[in-house]
Order: sequence, then C-alpha cells, then structure tokens
Amino acid sequence: MHGPYTVRRRRLLLAGLCWPVLALADERCLPTARQVEGPFYPPDWSGEHEFDLSQLNGHATRAEGELIVVSGRILDAHCQPVVGAAVDLWQANARGRYAHPADRNPAPLDPNFQGAGRVHTDSEGRYRFITIKPAPYALQYIDGNPSDAGFRPAHLHFKVSKPGVTPLTTQMYFAGDPYQEEDGVLRRVSDAERDALIIAPTSTASGAMQFDFNMHLRST
Ligand SMILES: [Fe+2]
Repeated sequence: MHGPYTVRRRRLLLAGLCWPVLALADERCLPTARQVEGPFYPPDWSGEHEFDLSQLNGHATRAEGELIVVSGRILDAHCQPVVGAAVDLWQANARGRYAHPADRNPAPLDPNFQGAGRVHTDSEGRYRFITIKPAPYALQYIDGNPSDAGFRPAHLHFKVSKPGVTPLTTQMYFAGDPYQEEDGVLRRVSDAERDALIIAPTSTASGAMQFDFNMHLRST
C-alpha cells in the first residue's frame, strides 16, 4: 500500500521535480566566498559602534541616504548556527566616502553616520543592522591613480569572527548595480558564489528595504 504522499513523491521524482529541492538544500551549506578586506577596515572600535549605523547617540538627524535593514544568520559548514560570533560591518556613506583616514575620496563625510557597527549573533546565529545604502566609489580613491576610471559597485564589508573559528571576511552587493559586471573583486569568485553575495531586497513593515544575507563559515 502506498499513501497519497508516497504516490505524489514518486510522481514528482518521475517528473524530475524533487532534484532541484535536494540541490538547494546542499547549496545552503556552501561556504560564503571570501572577499578582500580592502584598505578601510576601521582602525578604532572604541567609539559608538552598535547595530544602528544610521542614528548616532545625541544626534537629532539620521544619516543621509536610503535607510536599509541587513540581517541574516551565521551558519557553519553543517548549517548549524554560530552563536556569539562578532559581526563587523563597515561601509562607505551615501556619497561613497569612508570615515577612514586613508580614503582619498573628496566626497564629504556625514557627521550623522556611524560608518561601522559590531553586533554578536544570538542563540540562533542571527545578526541585524540598520544602516543606509552606500554609494559606489571610484577606484582612483583606492589606488591613487587618477587615470583609473573604474568604479566599485555599492557594497557592505563584513568580518565574522569568534575565538577558535577561522574568520570570514566578505562583501555583500545590491542586486541591479551596473558596476558589478566589471568589478575585479567580484570576478574572482565562481558564479554560484557571486550569486550568493548579490542580494535583492524585500520590504519591511517600516518601509525600509530589507536585505537577507546569510554567511556560511568553513568550520567552527
Ligand atoms: Fe569598500
């Protein structure tokens, strides 16, 4: 005797429809591609660096730019949550400028923008930041070569670390950015890894764009 579920599953298998589901289950555990740290990792974490980069304590005005929420889970190679991991986020502001002394970009700093944040994952490996969408920036402000006409696509830098765990440094990108095709950093990873770094938004109840970005470590 076969129940309705068994019959339905057999039909799906015959139709080849179960295989994509199995493949997706495996892909969820693939380690997140490493991306270069770049020259603008914050040199000092002693100031205000909590989860909301868009709002500084004592400032009445939020940071300039489109408000976004970025959240997700930190998982190990077996898809288990990594609890208590430090998640560092650092990024350019809405004009493409980093609050870092090495940034040559003449675009203005935003006095209301935190520039970097650090949170720790909860018991399910979750993290969450509120921030603004950064602007792309010209490569010449990194390499100091004024004839370099290229741009880096808008991106967020992340570093995930925990004692005893190999840290992960990577970058998240925004779906639809035209500079991604020519970006030398994104070109260094496979198509599957690249797809996992480029995130399309959904909207939140508050109206801010939500980006779900899970990061998978190689080991714990
Ligand atoms: Fe960057």
